[in-house]
Amino acid sequence: MLIAQITDTHVRRKGDLLHHMIHTGRELRRAVEAINALPVPPAFVVATGDLVDRGKNKEYRRLRRLLDELDAPCYLVPGNHDDADGLRAAFFDHPYLPPRGPICYVVEMRPVRMIALDTTRGRKPGGELDAARLSWLDARLREAPSVPTLIAMHHPPFDIGIGPVDAHAFRGRDELAAVIAAHPQVVRLISGHIHRACEVPFGGTIASSAPSTAHQLIIDRGESGGLTMRVEPPSFALHQWTGRALPTTIVRTADPGAAPALRVVS
Ligand SMILES: [Fe+2]
Ligand SMILES: [Fe+2]
Repeated sequence: MLIAQITDTHVRRKGDLLHHMIHTGRELRRAVEAINALPVPPAFVVATGDLVDRGKNKEYRRLRRLLDELDAPCYLVPGNHDDADGLRAAFFDHPYLPPRGPICYVVEMRPVRMIALDTTRGRKPGGELDAARLSWLDARLREAPSVPTLIAMHHPPFDIGIGPVDAHAFRGRDELAAVIAAHPQVVRLISGHIHRACEVPFGGTIASSAPSTAHQLIIDRGESGGLTMRVEPPSFALHQWTGRALPTTIVRTADPGAAPALRVVS
């Protein structure tokens, strides 16, 4: 079973470039094409937040048109750039989206079950899981203790060593780790938000973040006091269930005109 993860798509209206230079919609289109061309089709795609850039309805309508090109079903998780009402309106026919409250839900897929968590607190940059969401998660995990489970959310529950990023600490991080540690069927916790692939041991499992489909964070000392971003080829993550674990691969989509894959017979 293959699960594709896209994140931090930051879609804007057509022609409205991020920082006057980044074609986020075009980069998402390239990622969608790359996912559709995978030799093994994913069971589903999960988009882990910052789906659009300004939370505008027009951005959600464009996001919808771009994601409708995916061959696989797609599940949406909100990030701090999202607007829950705008998201629900554009994806009104996605039945897993709860009609109100935090956008938390379960995808009862097998062999890997997925639990999506809404870690937003309005449009503030930092993530949070309060007591209500943590107790909801604990209850869902108790329902299927022997089914390998993937948890998907926007904010990673770990620091990355860059001051301006880590300043927005994840509220409820230790409590989340305690819930995860009590449920060893959790095979991985995936996230986005930091626009860079990272992996950290967490609550007895692995917490990871995936790169953006558009622009990536530069790992520096944060001396500027801000963040340094760079346009790199659109990337996404593939999580493949082996029957024992869920290893993750980061895929950087080839530049147009790049050489095709070679098949080497040994
Ligand atoms: Fe983002
Ligand atoms: Fe974010």
